[in-house]
Amino acid sequence: MKTLKPVLFISLAFVVSLSFMSMKTTTYKVSNITSICQDTLKWVAPVSADAITNPYEVNDENISYGALTYKKNCRSCHGRHGDGKGMEAETLETIPTSFLSETFAKQSDGAIFWKINKGKNEMKSYTKKLEEEDIWNVIMYIKKTFIESSK
Ligand code: HEC
Repeated sequence: MKTLKPVLFISLAFVVSLSFMSMKTTTYKVSNITSICQDTLKWVAPVSADAITNPYEVNDENISYGALTYKKNCRSCHGRHGDGKGMEAETLETIPTSFLSETFAKQSDGAIFWKINKGKNEMKSYTKKLEEEDIWNVIMYIKKTFIESSK
């Protein structure tokens, strides 16, 4: 019996460490799945949002105001190049949408406006943080800089 105790102890330790190891892999896998879902599950604005149109003139002045708003409020996550690789992006659980994708470019201005106002997950609602005009200016900037220049 005496010799059996250490053997029992060792096998118990082995089983416990095995279960810890498998717990770790499970967490890793779950976060992987979350990132994959981020890419495939699109955020779709309601059809009614398409009816919202930009009441402001698209001109260089408004675009430059939009650039300032982008730099101050959006760049940390969406990145300097609009690719979603801003400095803060790595600390997030959700991936900031890249503005360079075709899916992004295809949607209406109204849908983009609706999303910025509404917010989702770590993308906060900007309704209270920005004036409507600033939101339209930043949309003009995003479109001009990341969509039109990539065509
Ligand atoms: C804290 C990081 C963060 C900041 C700051 C941020 N965003 Fe986002 N944004 C996100 C994330 C994350 C998503 C993806 C949300 C999702 O689909 O779950 C997103 C999604 C979006 C979308 C939707 C894209 C699509 O079509 O699905 C738009 C538009 C957008 N952001 C614009 C902006 C603008 C404009 C600003 C600045 C005023 C801004 N974001 C600031 C993190 C951020």
